[in-house]
Amino acid sequence: MKKTVLDFAKMKKSGEKISFLTCYDFPMASLCEKAGFDMLLVGDSAGMVVHGYSGTIRVTMDQMIAHSEVVRRGAPNTFIVGDMPFMSYQLSVENAVYNAGRFYKEAEVDCIKLEGGRRVAAQIKGIVDAGMSVMGHIGLTPQSSGQLGGFKAQGRTAETAVEVIKDALAVENAGAFSMLLEAVPPEIGKIITETLNIPVIGIGAGMNTDGQILIIGDMLGFFEAFTPKFVKKYTNLSEIIGKAFRDYIDEVKTGKFPEEKHCYRMLDGEHEKLEAFLKQSNVK
Ligand code: KIV
Repeated sequence: MKKTVLDFAKMKKSGEKISFLTCYDFPMASLCEKAGFDMLLVGDSAGMVVHGYSGTIRVTMDQMIAHSEVVRRGAPNTFIVGDMPFMSYQLSVENAVYNAGRFYKEAEVDCIKLEGGRRVAAQIKGIVDAGMSVMGHIGLTPQSSGQLGGFKAQGRTAETAVEVIKDALAVENAGAFSMLLEAVPPEIGKIITETLNIPVIGIGAGMNTDGQILIIGDMLGFFEAFTPKFVKKYTNLSEIIGKAFRDYIDEVKTGKFPEEKHCYRMLDGEHEKLEAFLKQSNVK
């Protein structure tokens, strides 16, 4: 049974942690659903993990809709979050509501996520007022990492921590049903999780948040461009896939593949019939 925003509120109350992972394609979405994740994020990190961009800025609405749509098909019974890309919500509240609506109508997501605290409170309220569910995203916000001086942890001083806490309150007050908190010290993760009534899901925000999210390419070990400190690699698919590719190349070159068991033989007697025909018709 697909979870709903009410289930996530209950999980926060009962202390059951929320398991969350990014996902961008059909086969991984099917595997994620089979494994039993509570939520999947079709993140704009697709720009780096799937498209090979150096960041998330170039990602478009059409790319995000295409990824969200295939993830929905691969995981029809999982709560799916569509991530609003750079410049799909910053221009105006109307523009934000329109693009959030595209995620709902074209990809059947269960909620949308957007980055920022106080400065996008009006957009969050507008989208919620239009009947959609919103997940906030504060702390390190990759779409504005240029302004932050790079992909750096936030709230490491008392002064900057207060700013992060103000953003968290703004997201909750604007009507978001949950919030993603990225790259802050665990002390700040704890304060925000205890202060907010909505579930707070952390990535690099310590062990006290209501749930955890990782990027699929990081945790499976196939995203090689860089690995943030907060990542735990649960396997190393780059090595596993690399070995399979090298073995295949080697077997093709040496004629070890294919073997008899990989062949479709002709039906009994048909080969002889064909040879006779070819001989008679001077084809050979
Ligand atoms: O786009 C994304 O994958 C994110 C991560 C920080 C989880 O927002």
